[in-house]
Amino acid sequence: LNELIDEGVRGRYVLVRSDLNVPLDGSNVTDDGRIKASLPVIKALANAGARVLVSAHLGRPKGAPEAKYSLAPAVTRLAELAPELNATLAADTTGPAAQAAAAALADGSVLVLENVRFDARETSKVDGERAAFAAELAALTGDNGAYVDDAFGAVHRKHASVFDIAKALPSYQGDLVKTELEVLRKLTTESERPYVVVLGGSKVSDKLAVIDNLIGKADSILVGGGMLFTFLAAQGFKVGASLLEVDQIPVVQDYLARAAAAGTTFVLPTDIVVAAAFAADAANEVVPATDMEASSFGATGLGLDIGPETGAAFATAIAGAKTVFWNGPMGVFEFAAFAEGTRAVAAALAANSSNGGFTVVGGGDSASAVRSLGFEDAAFGHISTGGGASLEFLEGKELPGLVALER
Ligand code: 3PG
Repeated sequence: LNELIDEGVRGRYVLVRSDLNVPLDGSNVTDDGRIKASLPVIKALANAGARVLVSAHLGRPKGAPEAKYSLAPAVTRLAELAPELNATLAADTTGPAAQAAAAALADGSVLVLENVRFDARETSKVDGERAAFAAELAALTGDNGAYVDDAFGAVHRKHASVFDIAKALPSYQGDLVKTELEVLRKLTTESERPYVVVLGGSKVSDKLAVIDNLIGKADSILVGGGMLFTFLAAQGFKVGASLLEVDQIPVVQDYLARAAAAGTTFVLPTDIVVAAAFAADAANEVVPATDMEASSFGATGLGLDIGPETGAAFATAIAGAKTVFWNGPMGVFEFAAFAEGTRAVAAALAANSSNGGFTVVGGGDSASAVRSLGFEDAAFGHISTGGGASLEFLEGKELPGLVALER
């Protein structure tokens, strides 16, 4: 980014791809972490006199405008956080409204283009379609424009505004992407041992490649969240009506068998909070993980959180680590009755951090979870803005957004 600013950007159009994909409650942003993380680059460019065009996605609309996926709430929050940027939202992405608003943009001001996923070409599998959309985005920058990729959370997407755009304009890496990569590199090649990984979230199928990659690299992998039930089932235990991916049982059995020989220990829950139903006020009981159907709900009980004994055991494992990576809530933290496991892990990471450990919270959901439970960002070594992106980086996969910049 400094390279671009040193070249001189006053009066030039700079298109910044940011990750403004924030959780919403109606028209309110419930976690503005990604907006705050996007501001430094936008501000640096605006302060240097650039006319900043921001492209971003929100949710997964199906290639056409849908009011509930408008970036309006994100832009309102951005304008509250940084009123000096005079940020406004264009009514379309590359159409007449965006073209007119871009033409009228003053030096040092910011125009956010409407959700790039309102155009089906953004995510098209056809190279030519994506290239055509990227060309329209590039055209908004006139004849001396530049592109900055600062959307770390989207670098794993081969989309027009992330991948193809880098062929259409002189391209630069944003500071958020740079920082995220520096941190995540410390978790791959340079991790200090003991290295403990905490994985949660609902589906094991989303985490297979990362687990596969961590076997032999992490000293321990602590398993919570909905995915833990597939691990319990893989060991032959009954899990009532809990989330279960039956087709992944053999895959998990293979991981468990390989891990010991590779020097990685899987730490599985010993107790579970089982509920009568998926509801905030559902009756619930703590039962042994090896006998989940022993609760009064029998085979209809749903595991919605790790139990207190497991929370304490995970905290002890985390306390002994020099490096900790955490992705995925331990339970249904949105319901207070099932948030204790996630809280215990967050508190353990924060304590480890203040004792000099290097702790990283990865993923939109985990970041929102720790913030909604009242933890400050500063309590952790790093809160990644990338969910899928940070996992794919740890998997060792090529990330299209980075490939495009290198090219
Ligand atoms: C995320 O939320 O992880 C990023 O914004 C990417 O969103 P996507 O998974 O819808 O591509």
